[in-house]
Amino acid sequence: MGWNSWNHFASTVSDAVIRGQADAMVSSGMRDAGYIYVNVDDTWEGERDSKGVLHPNAKFPDMKALADYVHGKGLKLGIYSSPGPKTCAGYEGSYGHEEQDAKTYADWGIDYLKYDLCGLRPLMAKAPSKAAAHQMMLEAYRRMHAALRKTGRPIVYSLCQYGKDDVWKWGASVGGNLWRTTEDISDSYLSMAGIGFGQIDLARYAGPGHWNDPDMLEVGNGGMNEDEYRTHMSLWALLAAPLLAGNDLSAMTPATTALLTNREVIAIDQDRSGIQGERVWVEGALEAWVKPLADHSKAVGFFNRADKTATAEAQVPLAKLGLQGPVHAHDVWKNKDLGVLPETVRVTIPAHGVALMIIRPGPAPHTQGSPPQA
Ligand code: GLA
Repeated sequence: MGWNSWNHFASTVSDAVIRGQADAMVSSGMRDAGYIYVNVDDTWEGERDSKGVLHPNAKFPDMKALADYVHGKGLKLGIYSSPGPKTCAGYEGSYGHEEQDAKTYADWGIDYLKYDLCGLRPLMAKAPSKAAAHQMMLEAYRRMHAALRKTGRPIVYSLCQYGKDDVWKWGASVGGNLWRTTEDISDSYLSMAGIGFGQIDLARYAGPGHWNDPDMLEVGNGGMNEDEYRTHMSLWALLAAPLLAGNDLSAMTPATTALLTNREVIAIDQDRSGIQGERVWVEGALEAWVKPLADHSKAVGFFNRADKTATAEAQVPLAKLGLQGPVHAHDVWKNKDLGVLPETVRVTIPAHGVALMIIRPGPAPHTQGSPPQA
């Protein structure tokens, strides 16, 4: 969990922006909710010196001082590079300098690297065959993983190659802790829903230490309404996806803060079993997704994907959710106990919205951990 500069700041990211976001991460309560990584995305890179050592550009006067600042707040600092000669935005990549760059990151105190394929693609296009191009990509990812390991500093390794060549099947074998499964998200319901609901059949590839990454959050960036952002958060939590906020943390509305810091939603995402949820039921535009949790309860999201403004009512037999009565439920976003559920669950779901529940076996009401009264 953390934050990344790209979705909101893109090429305007700077030392001042990162310090401001780190400050806001703490003052907004995001850090205490579990958001720890502050990740600088593309456009920080400057020139290499005569020894080949990479320096940041003028926007980042002193990366080590920045890392110290971020660490001083109980947060971690992430950075971005490419296995190619250039990054997506045309800045200096790590091609041929992997060990040197990994050492530079470690010396600065970097804790996370997003390694974005982009610049290697022109070289892959010159490979004699598709298989050779694929091997070239794997080697490039392995090379940086080995370089990071050699530094002795624990650095989270995030693969970004847009889900090509079934990365979920080999991402862990090249050292990836997470890998993007899709093209870039944008701040619209169409983009978010296309990506989120498209994560079917990938659950078995994710688990502790090696996660599918359906891209960073757009919550709070303004292109979706509250129901749509609630769908975004709920779906990412059910998918056990990395939660990397992508908005301006220093200018959040209370509604955005509430969406990003809901403790129950975060607990679903971060559940220690690390099981990615799956779609279990579809009827027209309505879908139910289920994520089994470590305490034998299940997180269940009922979604209304219909492209009209009307709310919809879903009627889902418990058996379709893999449940057998009696069960009782808690509505997560409404923070409301629903008591024992009937054999067919009825839920009302706003357009593009969600009803998110924790469903537990047994007839006892949900107590939210409070001890029984004597
Ligand atoms: C690619 C990645 C994005 C972002 C940009 C930066 O498009 O997928 O997440 O890192 O590059 O240039």
